[in-house]
Amino acid sequence: SSAQAQATSRFGFTPIPIATDSTIHVPDGYTWYPVAKWGEPLFSDAEPLDQATGVSVASADRVFGENTDGMEAFVVDGRQVIAVNHEYVNPGINLPHQDGEVINADDVLTLQNMQGVTVMEVAEGDNGWGIVVDSDLNRRITQNTPMAITGPAAGHPLLQTAADPAGTTVLGTMNNCGAGKTPWGTYLTCEENFNGYFGSTDADFAAPDGYARYGIGAESRYNYEKFDARFDTSANPNEPHRFGYIVEIDPADPSSTPIKHTALGRFKHENAAAVLAPDGRVVVYMGDDERGEFMYKYVSNGVYTPGGPTSELLDDGQLYAAKFNTDATGEWVALTPESTGMEAAEIAIFTRMAASAVGATTMDRPEWVAVNPVAVEGYCALTNNSRRGPDFANAGGDPAVAVPNSPNPRDANRYGQIVRWWPADDDHAATTFTWDLYVMAGNPTVHDDLNKGSANVNAGNLFNSPDGMMFDSTGLLWIQTDGDDSNEEGFAGMGNNQMLAGDPVTGQIERFLTGPNGSEVTGLTWSADKRTMFVGIQHPDAPFPDGEGLLARSSIVAVKRDDNQPVG
Ligand code: FEO
Ligand code: CA
Ligand code: CA
Ligand code: CA
Repeated sequence: SSAQAQATSRFGFTPIPIATDSTIHVPDGYTWYPVAKWGEPLFSDAEPLDQATGVSVASADRVFGENTDGMEAFVVDGRQVIAVNHEYVNPGINLPHQDGEVINADDVLTLQNMQGVTVMEVAEGDNGWGIVVDSDLNRRITQNTPMAITGPAAGHPLLQTAADPAGTTVLGTMNNCGAGKTPWGTYLTCEENFNGYFGSTDADFAAPDGYARYGIGAESRYNYEKFDARFDTSANPNEPHRFGYIVEIDPADPSSTPIKHTALGRFKHENAAAVLAPDGRVVVYMGDDERGEFMYKYVSNGVYTPGGPTSELLDDGQLYAAKFNTDATGEWVALTPESTGMEAAEIAIFTRMAASAVGATTMDRPEWVAVNPVAVEGYCALTNNSRRGPDFANAGGDPAVAVPNSPNPRDANRYGQIVRWWPADDDHAATTFTWDLYVMAGNPTVHDDLNKGSANVNAGNLFNSPDGMMFDSTGLLWIQTDGDDSNEEGFAGMGNNQMLAGDPVTGQIERFLTGPNGSEVTGLTWSADKRTMFVGIQHPDAPFPDGEGLLARSSIVAVKRDDNQPVG
């Protein structure tokens, strides 16, 4: 029904209205269905999710984990593999028989194992895409999987623990939010709100320097510290220094050891957008998702050549933080011992302080970065910032730096914006850039000040809190939201969280998908033939997707065109 409309637009779909119900909507001519759901077995020896008791401790690292987030698709020996993050857990549905209360070490292990990463082979059969159960490529990576630590902080005294006196091996990855993919075909998973997993069983424990800036407090989110001493900061004060990094995973080798690359800095990593500079150096753009924190990029010293060595490319390089000027120019400021007064290892561990030292620009919660494959430009979703403005202090504690600035122009920013930059000389490794705001989300039906949003926001495409972002191979920017879905007052007309597509050239933005009530739409990748778009639905409310009376299940869904043409 939409073929004629498509011909006049960059968009291959007819935009859809908002929704407020508990399912997914896509345009006419498209269909969606679940591919992988929380608690679904990856191996035939795992017990599937039980509606009354959740997933057993024995099966928790043999099933698809909870709260799907960033993901990437790979082709391994002609087979389609998806690597996907499980950001966090809702204890209430994982431990339903205990109303979510963690009461013993098995509960801790269950929750630890429902998070991390899934690597799974998927295949498209007569009933659509699904998990290839027992594929030799299937793997769960959890909060207990052994990993190597590399880069400038490896072996530093701040990373040494009783269990790992060398400071080079760590168990697990946590709060894996967004993702990325290297030019050599490995997966990058990004540790975000790691602070919430640590607490102290000793009320008199004095927090070490560096805890406060990262939000590491006395109480954890899940009570791990009561049953697993590794998460008790009074017993293991250096353990939190071993999280907050980018982790590289080889999806083609289930026996490989994941690598934490400290050269890419320690902060609340959202995602990792990797791209090659013209000379072959590897550039990785990254956001630190906290109110008033920074945008970063890493540039390797060595160059990537197809088939050549890659082992040093994410360990030997330079980290930069972004500084935006009022005249639409900007600078990537190198974080070096000279510029920060910190040693290289300290810059890698206390990256936030290093970026503050060079006067980086405080941002409205940098979420995903996306790099356009058909133009030399990058985009970062600045999701919102309730504490922006003269009345608030940022995470660094300095009210002066929380006032609105050029790329973050609004007090108490509820809607978010997407900043875009063009590197000098069309070179992602360049240290200067020009920039603009691709879109400032808002509500022109309610406001007539800055909160109405930019000119490319209208009554037909209202949204708030851009978060996930991916470019498709044609250069369309797909924008996923994680915001207020009350559909009331300033958010009236926005409906549930959603996915929109943006044309970088015209600025036009149109709504493609609406998620179920309560959910965030996060994570996007494509099958190798581009005929399937895989979209993540995180923390839905019941009854998605199984139906009335059944547990709500975070899921990856497939979206296809009914005529089986490519979708990006
Ligand atoms: Fe896990 Fe910043 O989103
Ligand atoms: Ca996010
Ligand atoms: Ca978010
Ligand atoms: Ca989330």
